[in-house]
Amino acid sequence: MEQRILGRTGLNASLMGLGGGGHSRLGMAKDKSESEIIRIIHSALDAGVNFIDTAEAYGTEPVVGKGIAAWPRDQLILSTKKSPGRGLNEDEIRHSVERSLGNLGTDYIDIYHLHGVPPKEYSSIVEQAYPVLEVLQQEGKIRFIGITERFERDTGHRMLEQALDDDLFDVVMVGLNLLNQSARRSILKRTQQMNVGVLIMFAVRSALSDPARLKEVMALLKAENQVADLPEEGALDFLVADAGADSIPDAAYRFCKHEEGVHVVLSGTSNIDHLADNIRSLDREPLPEATLHRLHEMFGEVDSVSGS
Ligand SMILES: NC(=O)c1ccc[n+]([C@@H]2O[C@H](COP(=O)([O-])OP(=O)(O)OC[C@H]3O[C@@H](n4cnc5c(N)ncnc54)[C@H](OP(=O)(O)O)[C@@H]3O)[C@@H](O)[C@H]2O)c1
Repeated sequence: MEQRILGRTGLNASLMGLGGGGHSRLGMAKDKSESEIIRIIHSALDAGVNFIDTAEAYGTEPVVGKGIAAWPRDQLILSTKKSPGRGLNEDEIRHSVERSLGNLGTDYIDIYHLHGVPPKEYSSIVEQAYPVLEVLQQEGKIRFIGITERFERDTGHRMLEQALDDDLFDVVMVGLNLLNQSARRSILKRTQQMNVGVLIMFAVRSALSDPARLKEVMALLKAENQVADLPEEGALDFLVADAGADSIPDAAYRFCKHEEGVHVVLSGTSNIDHLADNIRSLDREPLPEATLHRLHEMFGEVDSVSGS
């Protein structure tokens, strides 16, 4: 598994980050047993994944803690998050951090994020939470402070633009996929200049793993006049038919891997076979230049859907 330096954190992160949230929550959202979930975690670790993302809101911290219990802590990068809606005063933040530490069975969190921050609430959330996070960082409970956007509603990255203006965060988590490539313009250019670590979410999500959802998203884009000339049905079939991708998810993960400025591509799954496929995809060569060009032509101006 390829490793990349996560910007100014200097952490050596695996290109794939195992995602503990999304619609699958490692299988918790799909009634998988704890042992099946732990098999997914072990399988990722055995393949060289050293980055695991979870959050207090996902409910997956405890199973991640069990899955990594026998793994050397210094070979892991653990990323978890505080939901602003669960309280932001000093006691509440401390309580969340202590609970996450207990759930994960560790005494430090590598990256602690403010989770899903809406653009309008950015200033007040950061004003309340950031000074407390800095103290926790000085105490050694958190190594780096990150922030994640609410991509489903903030599809044009308005919150992260503010965060980059302030330059308080060592790591950002941003939505990017071949349907909404807008992060390239607004976020990835700046993170590269600022050497901020970049985690990609929504590489596949629903629209790129479920043909029925893709059709709905295409209809939406056509109605908004964002992709006027494209068919609703089968718009991405060429990725497999002509471009040599094994599947649309295969193309989608490779699309993100080869985007400049990307450090970690998060992959969420409840299915151990999908995990193996996704590891293989992230090991593969870029999509052909002509395919990338076609995808840029098709969706390069879109910034109104998340692909969820
Ligand atoms: N604001 C935030 O902070 C935020 C928001 C969203 C996500 N995240 C983080 O980002 C991670 C990634 O997002 P995500 O989980 O939505 O991940 P994703 O990798 O974009 O998409 C995962 C979805 O695609 C399906 N899938 C995965 N591999 C597949 C394959 N090879 N073939 C067919 N379907 C496949 C999964 O279903 P199966 O279970 O069937 O594989 C799952 O429903 C999350 O887990 C979470 O850690 C953070």
